[in-house]
Amino acid sequence: MAKAKKSVFFCQNCGHEESKWLGQCPMCKEWNTFVEEKVTVAKTSSTKSVKESQVVPLSAVKMENEERISTNIEELNRVLGGGIVPGSLILVGGDPGIGKSTLLLQVCQQLEKAEKKVLYISGEESLRQIKLRAQRMGEFSDRLLLLCETNLDIIRSVIEKERPDTVVIDSIQTMYSEDVTSAPGSVSQVREATNTLMQLAKGLCVTIFIVGHVTKEGTVAGPRVLEHMVDTVLYFEGDRHASYRILRGVKNRFGSTNEIGVFEMRENGLREVKNPSEFMLDGRPEHASGSVVACSMEGTRPILLEIQALVCESNFGMPRRTAAGTDYNRVNLLMAVLEKRIGYHLGNYDAYVNIAGGIKINEPAVDLGIVMAIVSSYKNRPVSEDTMVFGEVGLSGEVRAVNMPEQRVAEAKKLGFQTCIIPEVSRESVKNIKGIKIIGVRNINEAIQQI
Ligand code: TYD
Ligand code: MG
Repeated sequence: MAKAKKSVFFCQNCGHEESKWLGQCPMCKEWNTFVEEKVTVAKTSSTKSVKESQVVPLSAVKMENEERISTNIEELNRVLGGGIVPGSLILVGGDPGIGKSTLLLQVCQQLEKAEKKVLYISGEESLRQIKLRAQRMGEFSDRLLLLCETNLDIIRSVIEKERPDTVVIDSIQTMYSEDVTSAPGSVSQVREATNTLMQLAKGLCVTIFIVGHVTKEGTVAGPRVLEHMVDTVLYFEGDRHASYRILRGVKNRFGSTNEIGVFEMRENGLREVKNPSEFMLDGRPEHASGSVVACSMEGTRPILLEIQALVCESNFGMPRRTAAGTDYNRVNLLMAVLEKRIGYHLGNYDAYVNIAGGIKINEPAVDLGIVMAIVSSYKNRPVSEDTMVFGEVGLSGEVRAVNMPEQRVAEAKKLGFQTCIIPEVSRESVKNIKGIKIIGVRNINEAIQQI
């Protein structure tokens, strides 16, 4: 078939295509992300190959018992929806250095312990570097095979020859196909590579994990470009300076995307954190004003976390407000509610709100916690340490119900809290939990009486 070269411009962030260069991507609104790439277009010929395909009624589709392979890493299994579905293509995205290679090497270790044949293909590190990393993580058997390669055609033939159960591609941005003229890491290369891997995964029923770096520079295509092509998208996030990491499901064709997995980076690899609440509350200050424990649901799991606020008089005409780990606009809104409904003059005060540990929470259930932390700092009066707070705050200052109050109160009880301040309307749902004092509040005025 005749082929012609065409020059197009791709947004390296989201993969949006334009025929000319633009300063800002109309899709993802990022600036300076367009890069020119030459693509080969196959000219449509009049004689299309017609392959016979069969249509089937829904009732005739056989349901094989969907088998899942456990990775033996509980936190990962949960995010995947119970385990790996054989033949699926899983993208693991994250900032460079967050621990993607470490996590996947650990997955390889667990799978080869379960007698699976695993192939780890690295385009970033040498065999020696992988070995050095593996030595920190313990024993590996000969069922783990390594390959340092970036040429997709070679990778395809190796996979077809070796027939492993699981393949790890580290990373997709280093892979290239000779059929595509643009440089490795460009949108067309990354798409082509993912397509090839998708065909391999479905055709040979091998599970393929793809590592994708989140990049800020515009020259390397980000993982968002291939999100729509894969079955499952997991993002590995966390503060590089803190030791814990959160694995979040963004897309999953075989399970829910609400779940998170929590890990801690140690010298000998990643360790699962089974009780994230304890981990998040570690190192909480005693008798300090502006510190409140709130509860957020991450999927089916309640996580207790400490909200810190610092409110102090402003030296400038324009007060400073910052929010780390939560929505900045939400904090401004809650401060406006306090000003209007309670009558505090917060306009002359700087306010800094922080969720300790660096976790990001957007659930409205932490509203009441933020309000109480701000008031506690403003009045310089500590909230009792054994009190946990949750509830959504409305614009009239009312405290509204949130979902799953029972689980939240139960988690607080498990961690030894004595009192819970919750929306009055949720009291009925938690009446069966004994041994913890429940204070129901209808509005923020009632809540701040407790400080
Ligand atoms: P890595 O998995 O190489 O990150 P990525 O593949 O996402 O770029 O992780 C690199 C960081 O993790 C590096 O800063 C060192 C640290 N690390 C540990 O703290 N302990 C370990 O056992 C390992 C293997 C890495
Ligand atoms: Mg890596």
